[in-house]
Amino acid sequence: MTTQATITPINTFERVESRVRSYSRSFPKMFDRALGATIYDTDDRPYTDFLAGCSTLNYGHNDPDLKAALVDYIAGDGIAHGLDMFTNAKEQFLSAFEELILKPRGMDHQVQFTGPTGANAVEAALKLARKVTGRSNVISFTNGFHGVTLGALAATGNGKHRVGAATPLSGVTRAAFDGYFGADINTADLLDQQLSDPSSGVDAPAAIIVETVQGEGGLNVASPEWLRQIEAIARRHGALFIIDDIQAGCGRTGGFFSFDDMGLSPDIITMAKSLSGMGLPLAVVLIKPEYDIWKPAEHNGTFRGNNHAFVTATATLEKFWADESFVADVDEKARYLAERLGAIADEHGLSTKGRGMMLGVDAGSGENASAICKTCFANGLIIETSGSFDEVVKVLAPLTISIDQLTAGLDIIEGAFEAILGTRRAAAE
Ligand SMILES: Cc1ncc(COP(=O)(O)O)c(C=O)c1O
Repeated sequence: MTTQATITPINTFERVESRVRSYSRSFPKMFDRALGATIYDTDDRPYTDFLAGCSTLNYGHNDPDLKAALVDYIAGDGIAHGLDMFTNAKEQFLSAFEELILKPRGMDHQVQFTGPTGANAVEAALKLARKVTGRSNVISFTNGFHGVTLGALAATGNGKHRVGAATPLSGVTRAAFDGYFGADINTADLLDQQLSDPSSGVDAPAAIIVETVQGEGGLNVASPEWLRQIEAIARRHGALFIIDDIQAGCGRTGGFFSFDDMGLSPDIITMAKSLSGMGLPLAVVLIKPEYDIWKPAEHNGTFRGNNHAFVTATATLEKFWADESFVADVDEKARYLAERLGAIADEHGLSTKGRGMMLGVDAGSGENASAICKTCFANGLIIETSGSFDEVVKVLAPLTISIDQLTAGLDIIEGAFEAILGTRRAAAE
């Protein structure tokens, strides 16, 4: 006899989908539609989305202007897939990117379209740096996250992901991120010393790859001074300086690039996630012209011409990045977010982490953070953890969220911290 439980749609996933699925375990509801910062389950219950596709939906779900651009394009039989052939949609994206992003920053990087995921962009960036320098070693940092394909995974610190490789992850030497050994130790000096000693055992690197804010690694923030020192070290030792801006870019930390106004000039930049603006897969590698030494077709891939993503990406650039108003708006929300999370952290003797709208609270343990996120979900908020021990409750709200909805979501977080940590404190007293 078929029981009620076996015919619920959720069981389709349990029966058919691989065990590898992850987020659906934290949020075991069936979701149906979404608008702005709200996602609805099939019972039409609204949830505020403070996960935003891990920073893929910086402009919210189904932004009306992006949606209209895409619907019009599809209705006009616009090309959906074009390999890397010339299309109108691609030309418009490249022109808008040149005019609105590159030129105002004095950048002349070439745009390489890779396969559509962040890891695809990282693979291409590392491969190119190795090709340019003729070296194989790459320096990446403790707690860094760059994706889970083999090359990107070698550069990733996360133990849970690394163990999944079941094969040696080679070609990368780990250095300590800013502040890894505490505020008194300058880890850039340590790296410089190792690279300056021909017998340190660290091979001369092809590249140094770094996130300015470690998204998955616990919202660790690199200071502009440290980043400038890392760039200088890369130059001094003949390595390319790569910034992985896949999670911290596209306004998440304020500017279009997370390193805007820091006086940095990365040789290679990787971008994905919110680049298309609407959750459509699109990734690029930005390359200084002198390093764009690919031979035609040398780094190929079928899905490098997602024209639907070009259309929404262009609309995103025109809507949000044509003037300074979006950045000012994000700054204001980020200040409010910092104030509210700061108050929650103070209340419980904890600390905040991150920068801009990429901010969280170190809840002291993975167990605390997990219980807090679970309570948030029960109260209508989708939010996840990050960090070595999943100990950081991480807010990645859409940047377009209204202050009212941001406030309501933060109220849920405040209540969850009180429910979990306040109760434990009371029990211990
Ligand atoms: C900084 C960074 N690089 C690379 C990646 C990998 O991107 P994807 O999951 O699209 O492969 C991520 C994903 O979270 C990321 O945060």
